Amino acid sequence: MVQRNVLEYLEKNRGTVVTGGELSRQLNVSRTAVWKAIHALQDKGHEIEVLANSGYRLTESSDGLSERGIAEFLNTRAFGRQMELHESLPSTNRRLREMDISNLPEGYAVIADGQSSGRGRSGRTFYSPAREGVYFSVLLKPDMEISDVTMITVCAAVAVCRAVDAVCGISAKIKWVNDIFNDGKKLCGILSEASVSAELRRIDSVVVGIGINTGVVDSAVKNIAGSILEATGKRGLRNRLIAETLNQLEDVYLAFSLRREKKEILAEYSERMLYIGKRIEIIEGAASSIATVLGIDDAGALLVRLPGGGRRSVISGEIKIFESEETIQ
Ligand code: BTN
Repeated sequence: MVQRNVLEYLEKNRGTVVTGGELSRQLNVSRTAVWKAIHALQDKGHEIEVLANSGYRLTESSDGLSERGIAEFLNTRAFGRQMELHESLPSTNRRLREMDISNLPEGYAVIADGQSSGRGRSGRTFYSPAREGVYFSVLLKPDMEISDVTMITVCAAVAVCRAVDAVCGISAKIKWVNDIFNDGKKLCGILSEASVSAELRRIDSVVVGIGINTGVVDSAVKNIAGSILEATGKRGLRNRLIAETLNQLEDVYLAFSLRREKKEILAEYSERMLYIGKRIEIIEGAASSIATVLGIDDAGALLVRLPGGGRRSVISGEIKIFESEETIQ
C-alpha cells in the first residue's frame, strides 16, 4: 500500500522533485517506509531518481505501469475507469474470464506487467516478458447476436491501430483478422473470447485481450516481431498506450453498437489491411488453400478470389503471404 501511494504521489508530480519529508507527511508514513518503497519501486522498473539532499523524482521517461499513470491519459466514460493492475499474471484474459463478471462494469480492465502463460489465437502462447510489452484485457457486455462477434475483433483492431498511430506517430496496418503490423513486423496480437447464451443465440460477454510489444524484441523472433521501441526509439509510452487504446476501443465500440457505424468501421479496417491484391495461403484447421485477397465482407470475414475465379468469405483461420506472391491487375 505504501508503494502504491508513493508511486501515485510521484506520478502526480512526474518530472519534479518531491522531498522525503513531503512524502512522509502527505502519506502519513515514516521516512524509512518511504525510502523502502522507493527502492522496491525502482526494482520493479520505475525510473526514480534519488537526488542527494533534495528528494525523489519520477523521470518523464519512466516506463513503469501505474493506475494513475494510465488514468491521466484516459478520456473514456467507462472503459478503464475501473481496473486492476498486476505485476504478473498467467494471463489477463484468463483472469477476467474466471472472475464473476456479473459484478463488473463494462469496460473493466485487467492489466499485467508480464504474463507467464499469455494466450494467443489457435491455442498458441503469447510471449509476454515483464516490462517489454503491455498486456491487458477489457470486458465487454454487448447486446448482440453471435454473428456479430467478429465485428468486435474488427473494432478492437481498428482501435489498436488508431492508438498506436496517435501515441507513436506511425501508420499501423492490420493482417486479417487481428494482428497489428508496422513495417512488415507484428507489433500486437488481439484475442477476443466470447461467452454466449446458447438458447438465446446472443453474446453474453466478450473479453478482448490485447498484447503490444513495446520494448526489446527477443532475438529468436526479430525477423517477424517489431515493437514500439523499434518503431519510435522511445520507451516510457506504456501507460499512455494502454489509456489511448482504451479511449479508442470505447469510441469504436460505441460507434458500432450504439451509433450503428459498421460501414465506416469496416472501411477503416479495409484501408489498413495488408495483402490486398496479394496471393495468400489460407490455413483452416488441417486444410490449406491458395487465394487472392480482395478485402473483408460486411461481417468482417476475409473476402478472397479463388484460383478458378469464384469468390468466398473466410470466417476463421490463419493466413500467410504466398511465397511467390503476385499482384492482381
Ligand atoms: C495472438 O497474436 O495470437 C493473440 C495474442 C493476444 C495476447 C493478449 S496479451 C493480453 C491478453 N491475455 C492473454 O493471455 N492474451 C491476450
